[in-house]
Amino acid sequence: MRKDLHGLTLSTDSGTAVDAFDRATLAYLKYRTDAARHLGAALKADPQFALGHVLRGYFNMLAYNKANIQGAAEALAEARKHAKRTTTREAAHIEALARWVDGDLDRMLEVWRGVFAEHPHDVLAFRLHHFNAFWLGRPATMQAEVERVFPHWSAELPGWGMILSCRCFAHEEAGNYTLAEGAGRQAIEVDPGDLWGAHAIAHVLEMQGRRSEGIDWLKRLEPNWEGANNLKHHLFWHRSLFHIERREFDEVLSLYDHGFRDLGSPLTLAMPDMYIDVQNAASMLFRLERQGVDVGDRWLELADKAEARIGDCLSAFTLPHWMMALAATGRGAAAQRMIDGMRAFARGNGTVERLVGRVALPLCEAVMAHRQSRHAEVLKLMRPILGDMYLLGGSHAQQDVLEQLFLDSALKADSAGDVQLILERVSGRHPVPPSRRIGYAAAAARYAH
Ligand SMILES: [Fe+2]
Repeated sequence: MRKDLHGLTLSTDSGTAVDAFDRATLAYLKYRTDAARHLGAALKADPQFALGHVLRGYFNMLAYNKANIQGAAEALAEARKHAKRTTTREAAHIEALARWVDGDLDRMLEVWRGVFAEHPHDVLAFRLHHFNAFWLGRPATMQAEVERVFPHWSAELPGWGMILSCRCFAHEEAGNYTLAEGAGRQAIEVDPGDLWGAHAIAHVLEMQGRRSEGIDWLKRLEPNWEGANNLKHHLFWHRSLFHIERREFDEVLSLYDHGFRDLGSPLTLAMPDMYIDVQNAASMLFRLERQGVDVGDRWLELADKAEARIGDCLSAFTLPHWMMALAATGRGAAAQRMIDGMRAFARGNGTVERLVGRVALPLCEAVMAHRQSRHAEVLKLMRPILGDMYLLGGSHAQQDVLEQLFLDSALKADSAGDVQLILERVSGRHPVPPSRRIGYAAAAARYAH
């Protein structure tokens, strides 16, 4: 038995395995691509290290890609083989991975919550809970749980910056911008290469309409992102959100091609259909087209990847983005196959299955109807789920594209009541008035009381 970087017991006798596991953990917390390499070294040093296998399973599941389930299930089986000598905490991690592989995400969150309630320094349980709660649209849970562990943390502990950046993001999504900004700036003082901290502050600045500041913030921190994983792309996407508000469309397209959808970059080549990258790309193309910008053939490669992922519904919020690409390229038959695949998936009883059936399915039908100018149908499909779209996960900034979709159809159907509805909705969710936001200004001017 040995101790990890927070003094928690690990069921391995290999100091090399522990050191490598700690490096893998920190790399994961810092969104670095070398996390898997360090984990590989840990498992090489001790192939019977159960929590190491669990972490391998977690890394597989974090791709939210059906093709990775097999790898996660194999890692789980390997962890179980060595479960006899694990601690109660490690056994709980095995249980959490099992629930994730099974699709019981509610139970998975409960298991992690139990772990960090008892061991507030278990950064894996906390961070995985935070991240998955986010992708299940549960900002109140994120906020409550970061406040649960926060009193147990201080600057001396490794991972302190991560706690601060999670505190920032959770409070930003809850609308507590002052507290959020303080925590996020502190996280960047701890480590200017903290991507989650940089990201959380970018959200604060976006929600407060501080656009020049947002561009400067991200540009200034960019030199610290060496070795970062795909979250780096999402930060370029955030910068482009500020530029689009300033109608700097050429800059947005340049960031698209060279920042967040650079098809030749090593990160994109390694994972060409990574969920967050697809969300960034489709969401920005949709926003640009609403502003009359010609996006060229950029939808095509996304549509190819969408077709290849038909039937994979693990990332519910990505589904409408996949559908945007199929719709934009007129691939009606593929779109129908995607809808059929979602229907089949939704017959399951897991957490995401239920969300897909209830929210993502009508939403994807609406995406296709919008592109085919069946605007009354879009409104009919989306009205009942407007209040539930957040359940698909994604931030306010990301969800905004769905609000814009509804607004666009409301405008094109000349449905004044629906335009008012969406203007009121976004006014309630975003502190910057619609008249000062590019996606809403024209509608606000035309339909003002
Ligand atoms: Fe974001």
